[in-house]
Amino acid sequence: MWSSSWAVLLVAVGFASGRPSKPTTAGSYDFGYEHDAYGAHPLTVFKSAAELEVPKLDVLQSSKLCESSLYTLLTPRGGATRKPQTTILDSGGDLIWTSEWNGQQLYNLMVQEYKGEKYLTFWAGNDAVGGHGAGTIIMLDNTYTLFKEVRAAYGLDADLHDFRITKDGTALITVYEVVQRDLNEAGKNRIGPVWDCIIQEIDLESGLAVFQWRALDHWSLADTYREIGGDGEGDRAWDFFHMNSIDKDARGNYLTSSRYMHALTYINGTTGEVIWILGGKRNMFRDLSNGTATNFAYQHDARWSGNDTITIFDNGVDDLHRDIADTRGLKLKINEHNMTVEVVTEYLNPHKIHGISQGSFQSLSNGNVLLGYGNSAAFTEFASNGDVLCDTHFGPESRFGSAEVQSYRVYKYEWHGWPRTIPSSALRINSARSWSFFVSWNGATEVSKWILQGSNSSNATEWAELNRTRRMGFETAFEIRKSYPSYLRAVAVHEKGHMLGISEPLDVQAIKEEVSPDLISPLDQQRPAIDPTQLQYTYGFNFTDDEVWVAQIAMACGGLLLIGVLLRMGIAAWDTRRKTYQRVSTEAT
Ligand SMILES: *[C@@H]1O[C@H](CO)[C@@H](O)[C@H](O)[C@H]1NC(C)=O
Ligand SMILES: *[C@@H]1O[C@H](CO)[C@@H](O)[C@H](O)[C@H]1NC(C)=O
Ligand SMILES: *[C@@H]1O[C@H](CO)[C@@H](O)[C@H](O)[C@H]1NC(C)=O
Ligand SMILES: *[C@@H]1O[C@H](CO)[C@@H](O)[C@H](O)[C@H]1NC(C)=O
Ligand SMILES: *[C@@H]1O[C@H](CO)[C@@H](O)[C@H](O)[C@H]1NC(C)=O
Ligand SMILES: *[C@@H]1O[C@H](CO)[C@@H](O)[C@H](O)[C@H]1NC(C)=O
Ligand SMILES: *[C@@H]1O[C@H](CO)[C@@H](O)[C@H](O)[C@H]1NC(C)=O
Repeated sequence: MWSSSWAVLLVAVGFASGRPSKPTTAGSYDFGYEHDAYGAHPLTVFKSAAELEVPKLDVLQSSKLCESSLYTLLTPRGGATRKPQTTILDSGGDLIWTSEWNGQQLYNLMVQEYKGEKYLTFWAGNDAVGGHGAGTIIMLDNTYTLFKEVRAAYGLDADLHDFRITKDGTALITVYEVVQRDLNEAGKNRIGPVWDCIIQEIDLESGLAVFQWRALDHWSLADTYREIGGDGEGDRAWDFFHMNSIDKDARGNYLTSSRYMHALTYINGTTGEVIWILGGKRNMFRDLSNGTATNFAYQHDARWSGNDTITIFDNGVDDLHRDIADTRGLKLKINEHNMTVEVVTEYLNPHKIHGISQGSFQSLSNGNVLLGYGNSAAFTEFASNGDVLCDTHFGPESRFGSAEVQSYRVYKYEWHGWPRTIPSSALRINSARSWSFFVSWNGATEVSKWILQGSNSSNATEWAELNRTRRMGFETAFEIRKSYPSYLRAVAVHEKGHMLGISEPLDVQAIKEEVSPDLISPLDQQRPAIDPTQLQYTYGFNFTDDEVWVAQIAMACGGLLLIGVLLRMGIAAWDTRRKTYQRVSTEAT
């Protein structure tokens, strides 16, 4: 109550002095953050959930026009992180949910629909198999419980690059397989191992493949832009194609992106025949934009966005060619009748980030475009016309390109989660008579209020309400002054008033003795156990909201009056001094 009274007071004083209110900030560049002042992986730490690894953000630019009703989903991983983490943030960058998954590498966190239900989907596995992955796809339901672990068909491993659930209850997954191939076309006079790339469409119910397509049946090794180097020998399979996205359209055909062909392949969903190729050495489209619609390179995440529009995250560069072009989001309009293509919009990063690997392009339903920069810890939201609206880093810019903090993709979705865990809490001692109680609940999206309760027994059925507050963010803090009961816990409350969960009771006395015995004042030791029925009175919380307001306004007025009196006294004192000084100086001159 004191703090809010002070707030009222300050506002009152602010108005009285006629100071203009501070303009809403539009983000700023934190020089320290971007130059390692907080290390290679700046973190946000929560008292009630100290084990969580949550990236601290630097919001360089923000706007009301950014899509704020959705959460941001990413999978931070890399050399500077402890463990790869699935991460959901709210529009303010505050944590909603984070989790590791058996210490495995994690990619491509999304919200997808299957049989009318929403699921969190992500890839988990080993990504140290040559730029792609060997793993499975995890589907979690809205209680964060494993619903399905999806595998590739024919005994192959699911690759990390794409997993798309279709309206037909099937999933499109990328699969990599080593095959032996005559490398003559690639300039090596031998048979050697290459990574073939496969589209599998899996029926999620049965786990069986309903469609399969192999890149090597339709593409030649000579079509690639990837140098063979020492690959194609021993166990070093040559990754000549590098499939990284699959999209299926209403016509039942597939669109797939190949990083090393610099091309998209449009595939007949019935026969598997190539219908057309856009970009690369076998481009079949006439470029109406002076070459800029077909010169994309090392691209990712190619999707249909309407019947004649395709969106691409055009890296332009890769790990071996880091400065040959600028990375851009690319919206293309194609005309399949006349086989022409033109640039509709380019989305350029304000800091000219070069996304040397990975990356994503998401068309949001309000027309905005969200780009994730993959290897560089950044995501940017654009207006449809290419204007930058929001620009966020989740790792320092000075480390971009180092892979220390990266996220394969960054997407935005609506999500509602009801975790099966209970809220977690912690107590912190500020001084003998001032404590803070922290509570959070990883993954709980529906908590609107927290109620702090106290009791003199951990298993009491009656808990007295000590305080309540609106959810403050991932972690909510209660300030505890005066005395406190033996046990404290917090109750999560839904907007409509019903209870969602209760934290484990904290034994205040035990924590106090363990943490800081010297802080126990003789008064505390003498204090008898508190009767919960008396707590309302003890804590003085039995005000109604109106009474609290009246009290606060009264206190604020009292404060103003006091300040007025002090000011008056100050002015009077200063006046006297001034007169004295004037007199003295007059005498001196
Ligand atoms: C708890 O109650 C006190 C006294 O009414 C109030 O000042 C404080 O802001 C309340 N909320 C929290 C979160 O501590
Ligand atoms: C795909 O193949 C089927 C069967 O041959 C054919 O009827 C259809 O026209 C083809 N679609 C396209 C777009 O070529
Ligand atoms: C077309 O691109 C070339 C370089 O590729 C450039 O020299 C020329 O000015 C461009 N023309 C137009 C009309 O933009
Ligand atoms: C897109 O194509 C589908 C299938 O050919 C057709 O049913 C739909 O009407 C088209 N939509 C638009 C907006 O043209
Ligand atoms: C194809 O191009 C011709 C000549 O420019 C034009 O008349 C026709 O409308 C175009 N067809 C389509 C489907 O855009
Ligand atoms: C409640 O907990 C106390 C210890 O805090 C214990 O002695 C007592 O037996 C418990 N009562 C019940 C009903 O579980
Ligand atoms: C706890 O409070 C209840 C209700 O006021 C009371 O009956 C009980 O004796 C108290 N227990 C202890 C251990 O103080």
